Amino acid sequence: MSNKESYHIEFGEVWVRGLRSDSIVDEIKSRVNIVDVIGQHVVLKRAGSNYKGLCPFHNEKTPSFVVSEQKQIFTCFGCGASGDVIEFTKRYYNLDFMEAVEKLAGQYGIELKQFHSGDSQKREQLFELNRMAARFYLDAFTKRANPGLDYMRKRGMDPQTLIRFGIGFADESWDSLYRYFMDQGADVKQLMELGLISQSNGKYFDKFRNRVMFPIINTRGKVIGFGGRVLGDGTPKYLNSPESSIFLKKNNLFGLNLTRQEINKRDCAILVEGYMDVISLYKAGVRNVSASLGTALTENQAAMLKRYTKNVILCYDSDGAGRAAALRGMDILRAAGCNVKVMHVTDGKDPDEFVKKNGADAFYALAKEAKPFADYKIDQIRQETDLSTMEGSLEFLRRVTAVLKSLSPAEADLYIGKIAAESHISEGAIRMEVFGSGLADAREVREPVKPAQADRNGDRRNSANDPGLYLEKNLIRLMLAQSDFIPRMQPYEDVFRDAACRRIYENMKGLYREDEEIDVGKLADSLEPAEIAAMNDILENVKLTERDEDVFVDCVARIEREQLKQREQQIIQMLSLADDETDAARVEELTRELMTIQHKKNRE
Ligand code: GTP
Ligand code: MN
Repeated sequence: MSNKESYHIEFGEVWVRGLRSDSIVDEIKSRVNIVDVIGQHVVLKRAGSNYKGLCPFHNEKTPSFVVSEQKQIFTCFGCGASGDVIEFTKRYYNLDFMEAVEKLAGQYGIELKQFHSGDSQKREQLFELNRMAARFYLDAFTKRANPGLDYMRKRGMDPQTLIRFGIGFADESWDSLYRYFMDQGADVKQLMELGLISQSNGKYFDKFRNRVMFPIINTRGKVIGFGGRVLGDGTPKYLNSPESSIFLKKNNLFGLNLTRQEINKRDCAILVEGYMDVISLYKAGVRNVSASLGTALTENQAAMLKRYTKNVILCYDSDGAGRAAALRGMDILRAAGCNVKVMHVTDGKDPDEFVKKNGADAFYALAKEAKPFADYKIDQIRQETDLSTMEGSLEFLRRVTAVLKSLSPAEADLYIGKIAAESHISEGAIRMEVFGSGLADAREVREPVKPAQADRNGDRRNSANDPGLYLEKNLIRLMLAQSDFIPRMQPYEDVFRDAACRRIYENMKGLYREDEEIDVGKLADSLEPAEIAAMNDILENVKLTERDEDVFVDCVARIEREQLKQREQQIIQMLSLADDETDAARVEELTRELMTIQHKKNRE
């Protein structure tokens, strides 16, 4: 069976039903009366069982615009405009399908939950509360004298940098933020979820007090959490927002919202440990920098960085904890396919202190000397083993071999001579250890890196039993594989009804406009976690065949056929509304179109 045939059988013809039983469209149509909606803009007069008025879509003196309350459609016998309430809203306000749906739903208080991916409305509310809090802290920091600003000044920060990062101040009062939010009518449950407010003995109080506030902002510009630093030496030094549905530490890096362009431009990211390191380096002019959020580096963070560069320099503190963190981070970055180097500052305890004393040039000079991953690891192993004993040498060899195995044979070869010299083990023996007898199969097969696993949302439609969604996913998959399908999709783009698919498509279109190709990383970066999950699902589960073109043509044919059917329905409805005498010319035109459609359909 050819691919094309199997594809047909898989879809069957049922997908059309999937498209039609769009529950939100039904919901809107059943709750919104088209006569009300159009009546707000057009003076409608009763004419038999219908309403008539002057068409808002073209200039006319005698009314040829008919609205049927019974059928919930409008038709203009002058210009041919026709459709349902969503179509009217689309045209009248010049909106796309989704925007029209949102507008009507908003006006008539219809929940869009089932339509929106997951609980994105709630997420938006949480983002908004965080944004308000950040604004509140910022005002306290910038509009009046406060110890937070004094502290940051003392640490050498200038107003421009502080404002760039949106640094704020949580004052010492127990409830100033709480009272502010109550005045704004905010939901206290959501404030608790965000960790801005706590509760004790039935009283609410501010979680962050008398601290410098570092907003953590994702690459889409949303405030997802805060780090609050004590002024001086108290404990805990940093108080961080708890994880919440919008704040997953493992998925974010501090500062990346401001530094990713520079990371991309320099094709190198410098990863540091602390908030202050990022800000201080940035101020000094080292702007290709970011920090993991007080935790060990994660796979997702590595995947995120890799969208901007493959070259990462870990610049962790020189203490034991910093070294251990560097070693762990290295493996994760390597697994993600990054080239990793490590540097430790030589003056001062952390990059912040170093750059304040020595400046950006000295920092970059040090970065240039950063040790490649293998050197760093081998150094570490050398320090931990005793090469003067036989046992020590063997342990050294065993551990070094493991490191060399993860390199390409050419890279590994560069190290072998050196190691042989210092361990007094023959090059041949080391080579045997590393490469085994056959060169090729001794190389470690690296696992492909999984794309960042984002939040799944429970109530997504399932394409297995929703052929309409399956079609949407197929089209997305094709466009991801071959970007020249994107402009060809344009005439049919209304087919995207699933919120996630629609967003993925819209953002792909934007990227295509910019550089005619789709960088999946860049695309993911413009999407919400649930949408990234949908995209990953498509990438993993929608199979490509060798016949992309056939599949695309077939998908489009299906859409055209569906559009034809819809037009046929529409004409039949319009004809049923027409007045044979006054609309005679138009009736003839429509009849001819109807015949053409039916003829086409019969030919298939
Ligand atoms: P400064 O001491 O102000 O220069 O801070 P720093 O940014 O240099 O922080 P440091 O190197 O001490 O720690 C690195 C990172 O670990 C910080 O930026 C925080 O993200 C995190 N961290 C440090 N101390 C604490 C703490 O007490 N609690 C928590 N939750 N995180 C901390
Ligand atoms: Mn520090």
